[in-house]
Amino acid sequence: MKYEPTRLEIFLTRLAFLLYGKYVYQAFADRLPLEGGEQVLDFGCGMGTVAYYAAKKLPHGHLTCLDISKRWLNACCKTLRGYRNISFLLWECPQLTSESFDVVYCHFVLHDISESELERVIPELARSLRPGGVFVFREPFNETKKISLIKRLAEQNRLLPKDSRITDIPMMGNALECVYIKQ
Ligand SMILES: C[S@@+](CC[C@H](N)C(=O)[O-])C[C@H]1O[C@@H](n2cnc3c(N)ncnc32)[C@H](O)[C@@H]1O
Repeated sequence: MKYEPTRLEIFLTRLAFLLYGKYVYQAFADRLPLEGGEQVLDFGCGMGTVAYYAAKKLPHGHLTCLDISKRWLNACCKTLRGYRNISFLLWECPQLTSESFDVVYCHFVLHDISESELERVIPELARSLRPGGVFVFREPFNETKKISLIKRLAEQNRLLPKDSRITDIPMMGNALECVYIKQ
């Protein structure tokens, strides 16, 4: 469902980013399998919390920041001003080119999406990955029902589970991080 944030929400998110960026978002970006030349999709980029760190790891690659919200996407443009290897995309499903990304990641996005929408979103993300490409998501650990659905849809769409870990995030609690490889 489409939701536009208030100014206060954007301000508070920016504050959390300044305070916890290194521990929460940089830590996640550092674990992404990036060597520098990949085509990467940040699905549900928000104000660019993870993208800010991921983009630095792509000196010869490209990062597409995608969100359903115009206001978050504008906030993301501000966070990432100065970077040249980024494009911004407002989400409309389906719109992604097949097999165009090496890495697709979602950070605290999928648990907010309805089950019926996930049934459209996950196949679309899987389709956009090239064979051998990597899909990574991190979602709140207690969202067990949504996580089961996400895992089932991933596996139904040629994404093979490779790795998973539980991370403890300041102020947010435990989160589950899963890595898949496209067949
Ligand atoms: C909790 S925020 C997380 C933002 C960012 N990934 C982070 O970790 O800071 C969730 C984001 O997902 C976006 N979103 C929700 N549903 C979406 C959808 N169907 N397609 C694309 N983005 C979506 C929201 O607009 C919001 O920016």
